[in-house]
Amino acid sequence: VTRIRVLPEALANKIAAGEVVERPASIAKELLENAVDAEARSIFVQLEAGGRKRIRVVDDGAGMEPDDLFLALERHATSKISREEDLYSVRSLGFRGEALPSIAAVSLMELESRVREREVGRRIRVDGGVVRKVEEISMQPGTRVTVSNLFHNTPARRKFLKSVETETAHVLDAFTRTALSLPNVHFRMDVDGRGNMDFPPCSSVKERLHLLWGREITERLLELSSGPETPRLHGYLVPPEISRTAPRYLFTYVNGRWVRDRWLHGAVLEAYRPFLTKGRYPLAALFLEVDPQAVDVNVHPSKAEVRFRSPRDIRELLVSAVRGALTRRGRASLAYRQDPWEGAFEPRSETRPAPFPRNRSSRELSNGTRGFPRRWNVSESGSSTALSQVEQPFPEVAPEALSVSRRFHENDLHPPAAAALQEPRVLGQLANRYILCEAAEGLLIVDQHAAHERILFEALKKGLEAVPAPRQLLAIPRVLELGPSEFQQWTLVQPILEAAGLELHPFGERTLMVRDVPVLLEHVDVGALVEELLDTLEDDSRREIVHEPLDRVLAVMACHASIRSGQALMQEEMSRLVRDLTNLPGPFHCPHGRPIWKHISYEYLERELKRR
Ligand SMILES: Nc1ncnc2c1ncn2[C@@H]1O[C@H](COP(=O)(O)OP(=O)(O)O)[C@@H](O)[C@H]1O
Ligand SMILES: [Mg+2]
Repeated sequence: VTRIRVLPEALANKIAAGEVVERPASIAKELLENAVDAEARSIFVQLEAGGRKRIRVVDDGAGMEPDDLFLALERHATSKISREEDLYSVRSLGFRGEALPSIAAVSLMELESRVREREVGRRIRVDGGVVRKVEEISMQPGTRVTVSNLFHNTPARRKFLKSVETETAHVLDAFTRTALSLPNVHFRMDVDGRGNMDFPPCSSVKERLHLLWGREITERLLELSSGPETPRLHGYLVPPEISRTAPRYLFTYVNGRWVRDRWLHGAVLEAYRPFLTKGRYPLAALFLEVDPQAVDVNVHPSKAEVRFRSPRDIRELLVSAVRGALTRRGRASLAYRQDPWEGAFEPRSETRPAPFPRNRSSRELSNGTRGFPRRWNVSESGSSTALSQVEQPFPEVAPEALSVSRRFHENDLHPPAAAALQEPRVLGQLANRYILCEAAEGLLIVDQHAAHERILFEALKKGLEAVPAPRQLLAIPRVLELGPSEFQQWTLVQPILEAAGLELHPFGERTLMVRDVPVLLEHVDVGALVEELLDTLEDDSRREIVHEPLDRVLAVMACHASIRSGQALMQEEMSRLVRDLTNLPGPFHCPHGRPIWKHISYEYLERELKRR
């Protein structure tokens, strides 16, 4: 066992200072890192109430000498580095000696540890950083850290904690990231005594991905390896037909350390760019190995970012290795135009980005009818279906656009709305995207997708108020098979989905059944819908879950159920849409906050045209 020392002040001052304990997930991350650094073979995380109540990490690693328990709680006391040079060639995950004291300062902490060489272990209880009790205990070799009553002495910070669901989701993410990088270590996690994540030791990252993402995805994984010398990139890519609406499943590691480096992600996205629709993110687990001297890990308070000595080389390596892997397999199965890199790449319609795979039958069942609520009565054999196939399956959504609550301006409520909407007469469709109307005072250009989205959003909302809410029994219940982490995710957001009328009944392991849906969702691909809802509700890096999560769910539902951009419409359908639109209460934005129409007044036209 390497003993803990307090770092000399000059060295301590060089350490990037910052708040380590932001939320329960940051505690989980630090404790997991410590267990990994102690070379544990088995790590167990217990979480209660999203970590507000308790986070406990148990490992079977090296343990600490009894006296070192006190030292571990000193600021800048670490067994991992001792000289300044060490700071520039860090091999361990920790090196600052800051985590335990920072956590202890804002919680009740119990630290228990035993080294193999001793018969007994020691337990110390710490309250707000002050040691309250010391005792000898009998325990297995290893370390147990229990953190409870987080922020009990800093109520202001406690207030900033998000819902139990959100905090739990973040801890799960931290857990998953760590587990993914160390396949030979056994990782277990227990959430409020129910959801168990169990990753038994295995021989490869691929096996772990299998547990995480399920078989259907893992079967398609592309393996990547840039060669033996450093810098070296290896890992797994999911082909671009499967993508997500958020970068949640893009895992990047530098020397075994998970990092969320914008710059690294940028390189991966760049490599995927010709293959992915905008707004979609790849799934991948990529491990970059560099000489520890060539990377500075001491640049970010929670060590989530790194700085490379020669970033351009690294970027080049990343882009070329990832593209190489995608192209090699692409050559075999995709049709290209001449130069795929110059943005000229056009995937064939069957290779368009597809949703996270679900149970086949559910997808086949809904394909082709997707996006056609019954009342539009569009014949499925018509050209409109074919057109909707090549259109991107999800519209782009600006990150900020989704906070539904702060989207309208006072002005939106006023004319030209009223004038524009006086009995508009449909003239026709432009680019299969816009409906052109002759209105009382000029030309009205309606964005068909945005407009329909808004109409459905209001209708869904109304539906929830109705008792009983109108529901449609599905002829064949749809069965969705989720990946383990998705299933976990679902258990967290289930109440919100149910409130929105989406009832998913679990049966068997990680399988959900949908028997009926709100009438308006009758023709929606429930699998794709659930996928996006899970992303939407969990990922609060994109937006906050606190504000009206129900509205957000309804917005996503409306989006899935509505007419796509690029879908050819018949006269009758356009008239109906415009009529429904005129019956809407303002403001006239889609649920994501984009305007629904543009009005071009005669006055404007005359002014413009006379000038010529
Ligand atoms: N789970 C553990 N097993 C063994 N030793 C640990 C464990 N957790 C913490 N320690 C010891 O306590 C020290 C301080 O931990 P920490 O505050 O996280 O700082 P750091 O990890 O940066 O060294 C570590 O250097 C290590 O020696
Ligand atoms: Mg540490």
